[in-house]
Amino acid sequence: MAPAPGVNAAGWQYHPAVRTNLVLLTAALTLPLVARAPRVDTPPVRVSVAVNRPGATIPSTLLGVFFEDINFAADGGIYPERVKNRSFEFPDPLMGWRRATLTDAAGRFSVETATPASPANPHYLRVTSTAGKFGVSNEGFRGIGIRNGERYAVRLLARRGANGPASVRVEFENTQGRALGGVTLEGLTTTWQKLSGTITAEATELHALARVVTGGPGTVDLDMVSVFPADTWAHRENGLRADLVQLLKDLHPGFLRFPGGCIVEGRFLEGRYQWKKTIGDPSDRTLIVNRWNDEFSGRAAPDYYQTFGLGFYEYFQLSEDIGASPLPILNCGMACQFNSGELAPLDKIDPYIQDALDLIEFANGATTTPWGAKRAALGHPAPFNMTMIGVGNEQWGPQYLERYAKFAKVLGAQHPEIRLVASADPFTERENFKTQWDGLRKIGAGFVDEHFYRPPQWFYDNVGRYDSYPRTGPKIFVGEYAAHLPQRQGMRPSTLTAALAEAAWLTGLERNADLVGMSSFAPLFAHVDAWQWTPNLIWFDNLTSFGTPSYYVQQVFGQNRGTTILPVTIDGDAKNGIGGVFASASLDQSAREVVVKLVNPGSDARDVALALDGATAVGARAVTLTGTADAENSLESPTAVSPSNAVASVTSGKYSLPPRSVVVLRVRIS
Ligand code: AHR
Repeated sequence: MAPAPGVNAAGWQYHPAVRTNLVLLTAALTLPLVARAPRVDTPPVRVSVAVNRPGATIPSTLLGVFFEDINFAADGGIYPERVKNRSFEFPDPLMGWRRATLTDAAGRFSVETATPASPANPHYLRVTSTAGKFGVSNEGFRGIGIRNGERYAVRLLARRGANGPASVRVEFENTQGRALGGVTLEGLTTTWQKLSGTITAEATELHALARVVTGGPGTVDLDMVSVFPADTWAHRENGLRADLVQLLKDLHPGFLRFPGGCIVEGRFLEGRYQWKKTIGDPSDRTLIVNRWNDEFSGRAAPDYYQTFGLGFYEYFQLSEDIGASPLPILNCGMACQFNSGELAPLDKIDPYIQDALDLIEFANGATTTPWGAKRAALGHPAPFNMTMIGVGNEQWGPQYLERYAKFAKVLGAQHPEIRLVASADPFTERENFKTQWDGLRKIGAGFVDEHFYRPPQWFYDNVGRYDSYPRTGPKIFVGEYAAHLPQRQGMRPSTLTAALAEAAWLTGLERNADLVGMSSFAPLFAHVDAWQWTPNLIWFDNLTSFGTPSYYVQQVFGQNRGTTILPVTIDGDAKNGIGGVFASASLDQSAREVVVKLVNPGSDARDVALALDGATAVGARAVTLTGTADAENSLESPTAVSPSNAVASVTSGKYSLPPRSVVVLRVRIS
C-alpha cells in the first residue's frame, strides 16, 4: 500500500513547511551439520543447485553502501572534527561555545566580521582577557570523545591585538572544568596565521569539552578552531573516523552511493547539495543547515549543519579506500517533493547538467583539464574511475521525466561511458510508478532506483518481485531498503527479526542478479545521542561503534557474493520461500566453491538435503547467523549477534538450519 500523502515510503511525516551469532563451520561435506536446536519431525527441505547450468555473472556492485548525512553521520560522525561550529558560521555564531569555567580569569568574547581571514568564512571570535587566561569552551557534537594517551591534532587561525598575548592554549576538559591534556600554541602576531599542535589526552571521556584560552591579558582573534584525532583513516589531515571506515570496508561493498538521499534535493533548491561548494580548503566550504535539522519535530537537532568538511573529494577517496565504485547522486533541478517540490525551470536547467559534466571531468578527466587539474591539486592525479551518476532522488511525476530526459540527452551524447541512475517513484503501488518506469524505459537509463521501507512480512512476500521484470532496458538499483518493525520507545528496533527478512529479500535479489545490479540498506549511520531516523545499519557514540544484525546480514552476503548465478530449487520448485525456506546459490569461480545462502525465519530448526547437480563436493564450510527473535547489538554488547567460529559435522549433504537463521554454505567442488 502506498503511504499517505506527505508521508514518505518509510511512513515518516516530513517537514510540514511546504515551502547471533554468526558461526563459521569448517568440515568435510560427507558429515551432517548438526545444529544444537530442537529437532522437528518435518521431512528435510530439498535444496538443489544446478551447478551444471550456470546463469549470469553477478555484478561486483550487487551489494553496496548508501551514505547520507542524517543522524549525524557526517559532522559528529564519520567526519571526526571534535569542535562544533569551528568557523563561527552557524546562524547563531556562538552555538556550541560558552565561557570557559576558569576561576582566576576575567574577560569577554564576541563574534566579529570586520577583517576575517577569508571572505568565504566571514565570522571570527574575539576573546579579550582582562585578567588571567580567559577563554571559551566548545561542547562538541553531544560532547567530545577522547581516549587516554591518544593524540589529537589542533589547528586554528589566530592573531593577537596590538597588546595581546603571544600564545593561546587549547585543552580538553571534563564537565567540571578539569584539564585533561593540552597544548600551547606560540608565536601569535597581529596578522592571521595558521597554528597547529598536538594534544595527548590524559583521560578517557565520552563527553569532554575543548577550551581555548588566551596566554594572558589582551585580545586574541580565533577562527577555524579544529581538533581532530591523529589516527584518522589513512592518517589524513582531513581524514575520516577509522572505526567507522573499517566497518564499511568489512562489508566488501561494491559501490558507495553519496551524498544521499533527501539531502541531495534540499527542502528548497537553495538548500540542495552542490558538490562544487564541497571541495578545496575546508575553511572555504560554506556551510548550510542540514535538512534533517528540524525535519521531524520529535527529533529536532537545532545544531545540525553541513560544514562539508566531508565533501565530494573525501567521498571519492572513501570509495577508493573501501574498494567501492563511487556513485554520486546529483540534484536534477527539483527540490524534495516531500517538502516544497520547487522546480528549476526547464530553460534554466543547464547549470545542473553542467555540474554533472564537470563532475565527470573532476572524477575522471586528465590532469590537463580544468576539473581534472583541481583533483590533481587536491592530491589525486589518478582518475577515480567513476562509471555511474544518479540524477535525482525519490522524484516523481512528468516534471522529473522532463528533467531527466535533458540530463540523459546531454550526458548520453558526451559521456556514453557513464551509466545514469534514474529515480523510480518511491510510492511503488501507485499508477505513476508504472508510468514513470515506462517513461524511463523510453528515455533510457542504466539503472532505475527503487526504495522499500516496509514491514518484515513485505520482504518475505516480495522475494520474487524481480522474477517477472523485463530483462531488457534499465537494470534495477534497490537503492534504499530496510525492514521496519513497529516502534518501541520511539524507535524502530534493529533486531534479528528485521535482519532475517532482509536476508530473505537478498536471496531474491541474488537470484535476479542478471537484472538487479545494485542494492543498499538505508540509512547507514546514526549517533546514539543525535539520531532522526530508525532503523540504521551502524550506530556509534563519540568513541565506539557497532553493527546491527542487519549489518551482519549485509556483511555475510557481501563477503560471500559469488561470481555466477546458479539456479536453485526448493522441494523441486524454482520459487523462492517454498516451505518457509529462502535460498539462492552462486559459484565463486576463483575459489571453486558453490555458495548456497539459506534463510530459515521460523522458530523451528529445519533440515535441508542439499544436492549439487553436476558437481562433486569435496569439503564445506558454513557461516551461520542466528539468535533470538529480539536479539540486538548495542554499545555495551556490540557483537551479541556477530560472527563466531564453530566446527560442525556433515554427512550425506544434510544440514540443519537453526531456528531464525541465515546460513551460507561454501561447498568446495572438484
Ligand atoms: O534514508 C532516509 C531517507 O529516506 C532518504 O533521505 C530518502 O531518500 C528516503 O526518503
